[in-house]
Amino acid sequence: MVLGTGGTIAGRSALRGDNIHYTAAQLGIDVLAAEIPGLSEHLQGHTLELAQLAQVDSKDMDSAVWVRLARRTAQALAQPDVRGVVITHGTDTIEETAFFLQSVLPADKPVVLTCAMRPATALSPDGPQNLLDALTLVMTPQARGVMVVCAGVVHAPTHVQKIHPYRLDAFSSGEAGPLAWVEAAQVRWAGADLPAAKPLWDVNALPDPGAWPPVEIVLNHAGATGAVVNALVQSGVRGIVAAGTGNGTLSQSLEAALRQAMASGVQVLRTSRCMLGQVIAPPVADIPVAKGLSPVKARVALQLSLMGLPPAP
Ligand code: SIN
Repeated sequence: MVLGTGGTIAGRSALRGDNIHYTAAQLGIDVLAAEIPGLSEHLQGHTLELAQLAQVDSKDMDSAVWVRLARRTAQALAQPDVRGVVITHGTDTIEETAFFLQSVLPADKPVVLTCAMRPATALSPDGPQNLLDALTLVMTPQARGVMVVCAGVVHAPTHVQKIHPYRLDAFSSGEAGPLAWVEAAQVRWAGADLPAAKPLWDVNALPDPGAWPPVEIVLNHAGATGAVVNALVQSGVRGIVAAGTGNGTLSQSLEAALRQAMASGVQVLRTSRCMLGQVIAPPVADIPVAKGLSPVKARVALQLSLMGLPPAP
């Protein structure tokens, strides 16, 4: 099953070869699949079912698409004849979607997200190879759980981050390293553990998008005040992720505003804006720490935990 959601992989430019001034999310998943030469030989007898689930530039990814995507993917995974699911997605928020899906989907079959850094109209687009690599991964017997593949590198949702705005190999799993590589239609596993079969939350209990609790991210920086936090509390935010400096540190006024927000019932999670490592909590952690999660993934984790979902069966 291949689900299209948009992104640069489905992007088109008026000027062939222009990799910058293009519009993402233009071409259907049927067109993208049709542009892959030799696809049927690659599938080794498997058949592809294609569905266009959304058509968005992933900077605009939202809970409405996530709910549809999670429900549709769960439905597909439950079909005995479905080997796995490939999702085409924009690179900008693919790490958030992957982390969200990992939190709610069973991991006994593979769910592979893929993308492209160049539009389909580029002189040498990277989308077709990335899509082929995603299909290779789904057809590999050991593959299971949610993964992201781009430029031949396979990443786990917890660790993957987009680290470059332009180059083809735009993702890194930081100190954890990749899960695997796809090389000439072969998967070479790095030896890391694949995810546990059971997710945290029951996908069937996800509320409709309008009922998702609002959770925002605030950044500590030179000159940071509590003004953003105060405005968020006034707007009715339910959770705030603080992307602190270094070991999750916060300016005095930002920290004071966050404590006040907590006193009024807002849940706060402390993270670090550093690319690598994780916040080491002090012995008495008065602002809870999202261990090992980047601010954007901590936001997803906090939002899911605020929904009061039952754990996965
Ligand atoms: C997007 O994230 O949808 C646009 C950028 C990209 O896919 O590289």
